[in-house]
Order: sequence, then C-alpha cells, then structure tokens
Amino acid sequence: MLSLDAMIFDAYGTLFDVHAATRRLADRLGPRASRLSDLWRSRQVQYTWLRACMEQYAPFWEVTSEALDYAMEAVDLRDDTLKADLLATYRQVEPYADVLPALDALTTAGVRRGVFSNADPAMLTAAVEVSGLASRLDAVISVDGAGTFKPRPAVYAHAVQQLTTTPERTGFVTANGWDAAGASAAGLRAVWVNRAGAPVERLPARPMAVVPSLTEAVTTLLSSPGSAP
Ligand code: LAC
Repeated sequence: MLSLDAMIFDAYGTLFDVHAATRRLADRLGPRASRLSDLWRSRQVQYTWLRACMEQYAPFWEVTSEALDYAMEAVDLRDDTLKADLLATYRQVEPYADVLPALDALTTAGVRRGVFSNADPAMLTAAVEVSGLASRLDAVISVDGAGTFKPRPAVYAHAVQQLTTTPERTGFVTANGWDAAGASAAGLRAVWVNRAGAPVERLPARPMAVVPSLTEAVTTLLSSPGSAP
C-alpha cells in the first residue's frame, strides 16, 4: 500500500495559466499587457496575504476584481468594459500543457487527486469545469471552509481534513514558492514546480523537492521515501 493517500494541486499558476486572460485580450491592451498582467497577479496574491493578516477574509473572486482595479489604475487604464471583459476571460481558465499527463499518471498509481486553492467554491468549481479537469479530480477544496487564505496553517489543515488523511500522507504540488513553504511548514509533502527558474524562497520551511514540471512533481512524490508500495 502507498503511504501517500492523496496528491493535491494548487490552482492558479499551477494548473491554470494566470496570464491567459491578458494574453487573449493583448490587442486591446497594447504594450501595457505584460505589466498589467504582472501587477494584477502580484496584487491578487499580496491582497490574500494581507487580508489573512488583517483577518479580513473575502471571496477570492472579489480579491481578484480589486487587484485588477489597482493594476488598471497603475497602468493608467480606465475602461469598465475592458475590466468586465478581462474578468470574464479570467474565468475561461486554460490548463498548462503538463496538467493532463500529470493527473493521468496518478490514476495509474491509484492516488486520489485534488485541487486546493484560495479560490472560493463557485470560482473554483467553474474553473475545474471550464478547463475540462472535473472528471480527473476526486476532490475540489477551497480555503473558504477555513475562512482565511494560504499560507495560514489552518487552510492546509482544512485540506488534509477534507481528504480524511494526515499531512504526511498528503502530497502538495504548487508553482508558487511561498505556497510550497506554507504547505511544508504545515507538514505536507510539498513539491515546488519552479516554472520560472526563480530562487527558492527564504522562508522557514522549504519544499521537499524543486522540479521544472508537474509531471516531474508527480514522479518525485510517487518515488519519494515512504511512497513506495
Ligand atoms: C491558488 C493561488 C495561490 O490557486 O493561486 O490558491
């Protein structure tokens, strides 16, 4: 029997490309597209950290919309129709190319597969449906049940509880270095998919492995000590 009960994947930036919306509307955004996209994503994530510190939880969709307001003003874009179109396009999530092979490798291995995200249940369920991943996932877990955001320890504990297992029997795969640190600190077996070749985050806990793709993350977790049949 495997000592790994489940493998859960972060959503935005890991399964879903967070820059797809601005890329699809690049013609209307012009040369500001890339700066807008980076600011939108960085504020979205920073606002979750700050809201967690401030104990001011709000659904991730609201945080995403507020982060876009900030980013648009920062690049001097004032256009309500464009904002509405960017948000609508953001809902049409695109999975990265390595998602399907990684999830399929887990069916063969007999490990439960889940998504675990800051996204609120409505946003997350819609993303899973739109991306065509619904039939490949056994669990869809939102931080909403814990009422706060990553990397608070309570949200990782909530995910483990939803899976009715223990942190050490839960693999966690994320492309966000700070999320890998948070999950590791909470005792999960976290692997960081370092898509951008960034330095490791200097935080109190490190991922058990750093790999370039989701497929390698899955292979690493399945073959890590304690995972062998
Ligand atoms: C998520 C954020 C980290 O999906 O992108 O949880």
